[in-house]
Amino acid sequence: MRHLFRIAGVFAVSTLWSTSAFATSTGITGQSGKDGVMCSTCHKGGEVPTVVLEGPATLEPGATGQYTFIMRGGAAKTGGVDIAVDAAGANLVAGTGTKKLGAELVHTAPQDFTAGELRFNFSLVAPSTDVTLKLFGAGNSSNADKSSDGDRAAATTLSVKVGNGTPVVVDPLPAESDSGGCSAAGTAPVWGLALAGLAMLRRRRQN
Ligand code: HEC
Repeated sequence: MRHLFRIAGVFAVSTLWSTSAFATSTGITGQSGKDGVMCSTCHKGGEVPTVVLEGPATLEPGATGQYTFIMRGGAAKTGGVDIAVDAAGANLVAGTGTKKLGAELVHTAPQDFTAGELRFNFSLVAPSTDVTLKLFGAGNSSNADKSSDGDRAAATTLSVKVGNGTPVVVDPLPAESDSGGCSAAGTAPVWGLALAGLAMLRRRRQN
């Protein structure tokens, strides 16, 4: 009986492992840095690459912009990527070497570095309303040994202002309140006193 359990355990672990392994060399989502984690949870031992997202920092609502995720350094034989965006109305469109997985873009298979760098081109379709959105990109620079060792990842972001950007919320003036306390409203009377003091000073000088 115990034996059976052990076999079941080994089976469960190896199934888990093979699904996660399968998922990564052909792309993995949720690792762009947007959700706080990225590829380096598993990919270790290599040098950290430098990564950058390039493309227009402003877009008209509904317009399409061309962007590139560039990775240099690290093990620099092959590499992969995960790109995400934090605005619901925005749409990512895959380019060469990437595909759409859920709402994110990932590598189709490990891509070769050329001349010391690896570029992933993609498009961003801006939402139809004004917003300041953020693109997230994480790249793994790998040694092409088909394991997660000897590789290392890095992540970057790029802000894109769509239209006039996210409207700035102006705090309404603090309401007069008798409750006192140490809230922000408490500073209003102090300011009032200071201003009154200034006015008196001015008047005195003029006299
Ligand atoms: C849950 C662990 C895990 C995470 C997270 C992970 N990977 Fe992997 N990755 C693996 C494993 C295991 C392999 C080797 C097996 C395979 O090829 O799938 C691998 C292989 C790769 C390879 C080929 C490596 C080589 O040296 O040949 C690339 C490229 C790759 N992953 C990219 C990424 C990218 C990009 C991310 C983040 C967006 C990522 N991985 C996140 C586990 C992970």
